[in-house]
Amino acid sequence: MVKSIGKKINTAVFISGRGSNLKSLIKHSKFKNSQIKIGLVISSKKDAKGLKYAKKSKINFFINNFKNKSISEKHVLSQLSKEKIRIICLAGFMKILSKNFIKKFKKPILNIHPSLLPKYKGLNTHARVIKNKEKFTGSTVHLVTSKLDSGKIILQKKLKILKIDTVKTLEKKILKIEHKLYSKALEKFLANL
Ligand code: GRF
Repeated sequence: MVKSIGKKINTAVFISGRGSNLKSLIKHSKFKNSQIKIGLVISSKKDAKGLKYAKKSKINFFINNFKNKSISEKHVLSQLSKEKIRIICLAGFMKILSKNFIKKFKKPILNIHPSLLPKYKGLNTHARVIKNKEKFTGSTVHLVTSKLDSGKIILQKKLKILKIDTVKTLEKKILKIEHKLYSKALEKFLANL
């Protein structure tokens, strides 16, 4: 059970790098009508640029390189429980969480992926859509399961690919879409619980 009345849902965001989606989720969490507060940031890289957003908003953060997956996941699970985290948002998190972690956390885990899933799971999505001469691409927010980029889709936004688009222009356009899509999908998901 995730929902509670009148109280914001304590959310953890997992990152590995730039953290622009973390930045937009933090911004969203500060709106009065938002159902979430960000209580914890976990980074798999100690020099992740996105950590600056956690610091700026005085959000607790931990660095865990996930090199020894089972030990790392154990630590993270105990941090999540200590901070009473009720939902996780993966945002540019470059590690794959184990089946065991997902089972033990027991609560929802969401991810944002830069393609129109189920097409183009995995890495380098923009290069692959261009190579395959796709007409459209987009971004998807979905539930995380033990299968990569395969859980139930919560929300997607489509983007038309122009002839002049490159990996760089698509990345820029998709990120702009994602910065609205993630909080919209999260609110939709929480409203339907
Ligand atoms: C986003 O495009 C997201 O869809 C993908 O990784 C990128 C992360 O960007 N999973 P940022 O670190 O949030 O800026």
